[in-house]
Amino acid sequence: MEESKKVIFSGVKPSGDLTLGNYLGAIKNWVKLQEEYECYFCVMDLHAITVKQEPKDLRRRTLEILAIYLASGIDPDKNTLFIQSHVPAHCEASWLLTCCTYMGELSRMTQYKDKSKNSGGSISAGLFNYPTLMAADILLYQSNLVPVGKDQFQHLEMARNIAERFNKTYSDTFALPEAYTAKAGAKIMDLQDPTKKMSKSEKNVNGYILIMDPPEVIRKKVNRAVTDSLGVVKYNDEQLGVKNLMTILMTINNVTIEEIENKYQGLGYSQFKKDVAEAIVSELEPIQVKTKEYIGNKAYLEGIYKKGSDKASYVSNKTLRKMQKKMGFIPR
Ligand code: TYM
Repeated sequence: MEESKKVIFSGVKPSGDLTLGNYLGAIKNWVKLQEEYECYFCVMDLHAITVKQEPKDLRRRTLEILAIYLASGIDPDKNTLFIQSHVPAHCEASWLLTCCTYMGELSRMTQYKDKSKNSGGSISAGLFNYPTLMAADILLYQSNLVPVGKDQFQHLEMARNIAERFNKTYSDTFALPEAYTAKAGAKIMDLQDPTKKMSKSEKNVNGYILIMDPPEVIRKKVNRAVTDSLGVVKYNDEQLGVKNLMTILMTINNVTIEEIENKYQGLGYSQFKKDVAEAIVSELEPIQVKTKEYIGNKAYLEGIYKKGSDKASYVSNKTLRKMQKKMGFIPR
């Protein structure tokens, strides 16, 4: 039975402290999917260094992300949890795939264009090549489904194109992965500027909520979230701030647009914002408590990521060897 389960791969990169967007757009969905699929959940530290990182922050965040996965309800006995840099096949496969990828494709990636605009002229080659490493992550495990937020769709499409090209050139090697998103929450927006996504690299701290933000900070940030002067809780593109807060409430409390609109009819924004803040606090508080416990138990975390990387190395090497053989490398 185990063999027939479809495969999921996903991960978060430790380039900043995780936001509510990372949680609602990705991690919360993984928790729901873990029963049905064979899952690999990875901490993407190699992706984080495509922009400059402070080594001690990278170390802290890498373990914190693993702790957050566990605290959110990912079961380490049923899933493979590991750290990307512990499995060398990712770098090796990434080089092979880099040589099957065109400069033109890479230069069309929106994330590359956006991030290179803010990099003050020194853009690392890693930032440019980022999507081929991501393709390697996904393809090495013969992944069928990749649960991510909307911002990653373009990268996923590219992974699929690279896989198709490789399969066509060298014969069938990779499963073709598909993106997965839940109905709501695939793009949580910035609280101060709801035309852009909530991001851990945003400078204005009031724009995002961190998974580890204390309750009083969460309440303050939601209270300050930009809305409008209409005073009506309604889900539409004229009221992007309100729409975003409604999306957050829908995703956490599993309620519909109509239920929210009816509940706050004629009430203005004050009670609505209070309820959004309380929903976030009650979702995140237990996760924060558990995350801190896990971080305090380094030996336990080490046991999990070591076991995870053994399994991930075994599975990914099988695909890597196939790739190498088909491309004409002498077997070792
Ligand atoms: P990263 O670390 O930027 O984000 C991790 C996950 O969170 C989702 N996300 C959001 N979802 C909804 N609203 C938001 N505001 C929001 N912000 C982020 C992202 O879509 C993502 O699912 N390249 C990836 C990491 C990665 C990866 C992979 C993912 C590397 N290799 C292979 C899947 C498969 C990234 O930068 O995610």
